[in-house]
Amino acid sequence: MRDVIHVADVRDARLSDYSAIDPRIPRRDVERAAVSGGYAICEGPLLVRRTLETDARVRSVLVTPSRLRKLADILDGVDAPIYVAEKAVLEEVVGYAFHRGAVASVERPVQRPLAALLEGARRIAVCEGITDHENLGSIFRNAAAFGLDAVLLDPTTCDPLYRRSIRVSMGHALRVPWARVEPWPDGLDRLRELGFTCVALTPGADSIVLDEIDRSVPIAFMLGTEGPGLTAAALGRADVRVRIPMAPGVDSLNVAATSALAFRAIADDGLV
Ligand SMILES: C[S@@+](CC[C@H](N)C(=O)[O-])C[C@H]1O[C@@H](n2cnc3c(N)ncnc32)[C@H](O)[C@@H]1O
Repeated sequence: MRDVIHVADVRDARLSDYSAIDPRIPRRDVERAAVSGGYAICEGPLLVRRTLETDARVRSVLVTPSRLRKLADILDGVDAPIYVAEKAVLEEVVGYAFHRGAVASVERPVQRPLAALLEGARRIAVCEGITDHENLGSIFRNAAAFGLDAVLLDPTTCDPLYRRSIRVSMGHALRVPWARVEPWPDGLDRLRELGFTCVALTPGADSIVLDEIDRSVPIAFMLGTEGPGLTAAALGRADVRVRIPMAPGVDSLNVAATSALAFRAIADDGLV
C-alpha cells in the first residue's frame, strides 16, 4: 500500500480544506475563494471513489483507517497526500456526519468560454435563480442521466460545487460541463446565435405542452427559481414556453422534478 500521513491534531493546517478556518466566513465562501485556490469537497466513500476515477485534480484525501483499507485499490493511484485520522478526529475536522469516513478535496475545473463549452452541444439546461443546493445538485444528476451536454447558470444561481450540491448530484456536478451566463439575461441572446431554441419551462396556461416540442433542433431548457419561477426578463428572451400538464389544483412541480421530466422528453436515443 502507498505511503500515507497519519494526523491526530484537529488543528493540523494540512487539513484546512476540510475544516472551517474562520467561523465567521461561510464554508462555501472559503471553498470558492481565489485565495484558497478554489476547491471542492467530495463526501462519502462512493463519491470519493467515483471522483478519484475521473481526471479531477486531487488536492488531498482524508480517510479513517478502515476506509483506507476499503479504498486502497483506488487510493494507490492518487498523486496527492492521503491523510489518515481516527473517526473522532475526522468528525471534528469535517464537522458533521455525511463523510462516512472518507472525504476528498479536488481543484475546481477551469471554466471554459461559452462558445467552446457549447461546441457541438444540442441539449442544454439554463437555470435562473436556483438557490437551493439540493435542487441544483438534482438538476445536475438529471442532466447527466439524460445526456445533456451542459448546464448554464445565471449569476444568482447557487454554487454547483458547494459540497451539498456535489453530494446530491452524486458527483455529476464535477463532470457535467457548466458555465455562468453573463450578463443576464442578455447573454441568452448568445445561445440563439449559437443555434439554440430557448424553451422556457413554465406552468402557465399559455404554454404549449411538453410533448409538442420540436425535438429536431438544439434546445436550451430554461428552469426558474423555486418561488416565483422565471423572471419576466428571462421569459421575454424565450422562443417558446412549455408546460408539463398537471392535475387541476396543483400550482407547479419542484424544479428538479421538472428537469427530470423535461430532460427525459428530449433525450437522444441511447439510454439503457
Ligand atoms: C416551483 S416552480 C415555480 C412556480 C411558479 N409559480 C411559476 O409560475 O413558474 C420552479 C420552476 O419549475 C419549473 N416548473 C414547475 N412546474 C412546471 C410545470 N408544470 N411545467 C413546466 N415547468 C414547471 C419552472 O421552470 C419553474 O420556474
